[in-house]
Amino acid sequence: MYKIAILGFGVVGGGVARLIDENKNEIAAFANDQVEVKYILDLRDFPDSPYGDKVVHDYSVIIGDPEISLIVEAMGGSHPAYEYTVGALRAGKSVVTSNKEVVANYGDEFLRIAEEEGVCYLFEASVGGGIPVLAPLINCAKQNKIREVRGILNGTTNYILTKMYTLGAGFDESLRDAQNKGYAEKNPDADVLGIDASRKIAILGALVTGKLLPTELIHTEGITGIRREDVQRAASIGCAIKLLGRCRIADGGVRATVAPYIIASDEPLAGVMGVYNAVELIGDPIECAMFYGPGAGAGPTASAIVGDVVQIIRAGRGAIQPAFERSPESALTMDSEVGRIYYAYEGVSAADVERIFDEPCILSDDGEVAFISPEMKEIELEGLCEKLRELGGVLKSKIRLL
Ligand code: HSE
Repeated sequence: MYKIAILGFGVVGGGVARLIDENKNEIAAFANDQVEVKYILDLRDFPDSPYGDKVVHDYSVIIGDPEISLIVEAMGGSHPAYEYTVGALRAGKSVVTSNKEVVANYGDEFLRIAEEEGVCYLFEASVGGGIPVLAPLINCAKQNKIREVRGILNGTTNYILTKMYTLGAGFDESLRDAQNKGYAEKNPDADVLGIDASRKIAILGALVTGKLLPTELIHTEGITGIRREDVQRAASIGCAIKLLGRCRIADGGVRATVAPYIIASDEPLAGVMGVYNAVELIGDPIECAMFYGPGAGAGPTASAIVGDVVQIIRAGRGAIQPAFERSPESALTMDSEVGRIYYAYEGVSAADVERIFDEPCILSDDGEVAFISPEMKEIELEGLCEKLRELGGVLKSKIRLL
C-alpha cells in the first residue's frame, strides 16, 4: 500500500482525494500498488466530509510518519508551501504540486533537493491545469531545437477577452461577469495583471531551456488597459486579442514575456476561447505542436496531479524528471525585440503618424488615431513614439502583433 498525504482540502485537494477514490482500481493496475490517502492537512475540520477522519492540523504528524511516501501540496502561495516542500523532500518523501507560484520561485531548489534525496518533485498541474503538457514538453525539448514555447496560460483573462470579442463588452463588465461565474477572484490582480501567466511561462521556459528566469525579469503586462475599441479594431482586420506568455530562445539568451497580442484569426491560438488554455511548442523538426484543454478546475487539475502521483508510484526516479537551474543572467530585455505594434493616440492626426512612421497601417482616425507600425526594433519604435509625444500625442493603447 502506497500512502500519501494531501496538504490543503480546498477545490484542488478535495478533487485529488475524490479522483483517487473513484479510480482506485485503475490506479492500482497501472501503478502496481494500491494508493491510500492517509492524511489531509487543513486548518479547518470537515465533519460532514467522507474524508473528515483523515484531517489533521499539525504538519509534523505527516512529516514524522514513515508510512507516508508522497505529499500532494495543494495549498497555493509561497509560504508555508516552500517550508513544507523542503521538509517533505528532506524527509525522503516525493512531492507533487499544482502550485505555480512556489514552482516559479523555488522549483530549481526543490529539484536539486529531490535529486540529493533520491525522491521526486513533479508539477504537471502547475501549468495548463488538466492539459498534460509538461511531460511531453520535457521529452520534445530533448530531440528538437526549440525556438519558442508560448501560449494562453490564464483562463480568467481569456474568458474576459473572449467576452469582449464575442459580445463587444468592455473590460469592467467582462471582469464582473467572470467574478459572478467564479472564474475571477474578488481581487483579480494576479490574473488580470499577468502575474499568474508570468509564473507559468517561467516554468514552461525553464523546462524547455533548462534556465529558470526569476519572474521579475519577465516583461509582464496584463489586460486592464485593453479597451472595447481595441478589440473591435483588431476584429475589423480579422484578428483577436489574447494574453500570451512567450519564451523565446534568441541571441544567446532567453526572452520571456507576458502581454496582450493581436493574433490573426487563422492562428490556432486565436480560436482558443473562454477559460480554455493552449500551449504551442515551436522548433525543428517538430514545427508547431499545440496542446489544448481546460486550464483550471477541480477535475482537470486533480487529473494532472494524480497523473504525477501514479508516475512516481510506478517509476520513482525512473519517471521523467524536470531539470533546470535559476539563470537570471540569461534574461533578454524587450529592446531588441523586432515586430509590429498597434498604437492608439489622442492629440495627433493620421497625417502626423504618416510623417513620422514609414508606411503605417492606419486603422481609424476618429478622435483618436489608431495604426499598426511597420516592423522594427521596439527601441526604435519607442524613438518614433517620442516624436508623437512631442507633438502632444497621448498614448491610449499599445498592443504587439504576433
Ligand atoms: N487563475 C488561474 C487561471 C487558475 O485563471 O488560469 C489556474 O491556474
